[in-house]
Amino acid sequence: MAYTPLRISTIKPNRELTFPLYIFFKEQYIPYAAKGTSIEEEKYKKLRKQKIAKFYIDEEDEINYQNFLDALLMETMNSETATVEEKVNIVEGACGSAVERMQEDPESESSYRMTENAARTLRQCISENPEAMKAIFGKPVEKNEIIVKHSLNVSALATKLGQKMKLTEEQLDEIAVAGLLHDIGLMQLDEKTRELFNKNKKDFTPEEKLAYGAHVKDCISVLKDKPYVNQTSMELITNHEEVKSGHGPNKKTQLTQSEYILSLVNIYDKTIITTDLTPKEAIKEILIDELGNFELDLLNKFKEVLTEEGLLDL
Ligand SMILES: [Fe+2]
Ligand SMILES: [Fe+2]
Repeated sequence: MAYTPLRISTIKPNRELTFPLYIFFKEQYIPYAAKGTSIEEEKYKKLRKQKIAKFYIDEEDEINYQNFLDALLMETMNSETATVEEKVNIVEGACGSAVERMQEDPESESSYRMTENAARTLRQCISENPEAMKAIFGKPVEKNEIIVKHSLNVSALATKLGQKMKLTEEQLDEIAVAGLLHDIGLMQLDEKTRELFNKNKKDFTPEEKLAYGAHVKDCISVLKDKPYVNQTSMELITNHEEVKSGHGPNKKTQLTQSEYILSLVNIYDKTIITTDLTPKEAIKEILIDELGNFELDLLNKFKEVLTEEGLLDL
């Protein structure tokens, strides 16, 4: 039997499972809950406290799990009693699972579909709940989750800035998916190069710059000709490190509006997530350092979005 991991946050206590769940313990997969049963609230809380972050399912139950998650997402998003935290938790779980699956197997169509669905739900969550952005950005990031969390942050913030810049619904969908997937290429890098994620790009040596820059293309090459993949999202991913001055890995000097948005938001969240700067200090630095890399109007609108969403006071 082959197993796939899933996040505990995408399972709800007291809800009937449509597939058996396993945990990985002492080097083996152990049945944890049978199909048709559910997990009690107390037990569930304990698991989350023990930091058991993952359940496993039989790969053959993938479709059952997808349907389970889709129904749960829809119900939670449309629920009048669910709190913003509950909504954000389940959306984060869905986005996190999708990104992780794409990192492990970028060619999986079901993982790509899961990503599209997660991105759509994230958009719904942040547009219907004024407090959602604060809930997302206010959470501490666990070290081993940093790239997944960064992907979610970029997706959410790019959508918000995209709305401010009057992108169409279709463009917002494309940028939300690209936000989630923009850094999956990091997983193809060797560990030492991947560690550069935490280093300020101003301090890169030319060799480091070249090696790290490869992450915008790896993965995309295998995704590009897939009929189910959105090509604009792929372009966005390929160009997410580009800036107007031509210093990106592809040395582009002209980008689409969506590409500028994704690139700017990426710089901001990376600064927040890898340095000790507060949001206020980070945006101040960016408004100075990136002046030649983005239109002034976009930089100003971005600061407005951060202010309106209450993210500068976190
Ligand atoms: Fe990147
Ligand atoms: Fe990034």
